[in-house]
Amino acid sequence: MSMDASGYCGFLRKDFVSCYTLTMMPNFQTIQTLIPPGFIDLGAGEPQPELLPLDLLRDAAAHRFGLGDKDFLQYGLEQGDGYFRAALAGFLSTHCGSSVSHDDLFTTSGISSALSLLCTLFTKPGDTIYVEEPSYFLALRIFVDHGLHVVPIRTDTSGLVLEDMVAALNVSKPKFIYVVPTFQNPSGQTLSQERREQLVELAKEHDFLILADEVYQFLSYTQAPPKSFGAYIDSEHVISLGSFSKILAPGLRLGWLQTHQSIMQKIISCGMLDSGGGMNPFTSTIVRSLIESGGLDRNLSTLLDVLGKRVRVMSELLQKHIPQAQFIPPHGGYFFWLHVPGMDAKELRKKAQAHKVDLRPGILFSSANGLNEHFRLSVSHYGVDRIEEGVLRLKDCFK
Ligand SMILES: Cc1ncc(COP(=O)(O)O)c(C=O)c1O
Repeated sequence: MSMDASGYCGFLRKDFVSCYTLTMMPNFQTIQTLIPPGFIDLGAGEPQPELLPLDLLRDAAAHRFGLGDKDFLQYGLEQGDGYFRAALAGFLSTHCGSSVSHDDLFTTSGISSALSLLCTLFTKPGDTIYVEEPSYFLALRIFVDHGLHVVPIRTDTSGLVLEDMVAALNVSKPKFIYVVPTFQNPSGQTLSQERREQLVELAKEHDFLILADEVYQFLSYTQAPPKSFGAYIDSEHVISLGSFSKILAPGLRLGWLQTHQSIMQKIISCGMLDSGGGMNPFTSTIVRSLIESGGLDRNLSTLLDVLGKRVRVMSELLQKHIPQAQFIPPHGGYFFWLHVPGMDAKELRKKAQAHKVDLRPGILFSSANGLNEHFRLSVSHYGVDRIEEGVLRLKDCFK
């Protein structure tokens, strides 16, 4: 997988491929990103292996296989296993702040592939779409794959700046806007309730879709976020995307989307599903058992404890050791977004790597080639001891 198009050069995706991966582990690598021994990649957004719930999944699989029913080995219903969607609807209704019906849910193989499917169904090459500036950089790559014309819209501490969006609408209308409304990657910021409602009104008025990537919606450490965009599907202009990647395990490749029936019908009648059936019947039936047994709630509560503590620790360490970096401590999610006026984050990264620590420079998250005074750090991949060691190494780079 080449990351050159986005400029991404995380460990073993590019930098270390020649000097480390290929020599140490030629063809036997299972996971996407390996971090060389001795390095601390504070930029990495993958969950720490210790946070991946092997026991819960083993029990859920044993329960499902023990039932003796083989339907989940068959081609699945296009919309996704109804029993799984019913269990998921129960979980979402408890955690999202509004009631969710399984009829409005569609099973996906995670947000990344859902975005690609939605681009296939709702756009053609050359179409305009809007994204936040900054935005999740790997979604930007998916939009490039589909030949879309990406227009960045400025954000502030309450998310998308709607005045800028209105100005952009006067120039070119988008097919959709892609937003990460809650605990955004990379900024950690959350789109306010008021702006969510205004955005939905704009979507109705100008007839574009809102693709709300709500992957961090449940990782809230201090205060509940605004209601998910799932609460606005009656507008017929909203698709809310969710994933098990951050609340169970990315390797499951399982997620969902929630939308109005008018949009749902277009999705479930696509050729890909006609041929292959619904997505992930095997994995979703195991996750159904896990949800029904209360395992998902237990896992989420562990994650909130562990990650919430890391955010507090990281926040104190950064204030103490890197006072020149300005940031707002996130209320949820994985990421710290730091701003050092006058700094070149690409240069900082070079220095950091020489100190065996890494970060993600802001330019990766920009579709306007900007944000180079910013960089992203994450709490997902290390416990507090390694986070502290990483911040101390980073401090040396500012000397
Ligand atoms: C904002 C955002 N969306 C989507 C993803 C990927 O989601 P999935 O694993 O469901 O494809 C990530 C992963 O880092 C992310 O940060």
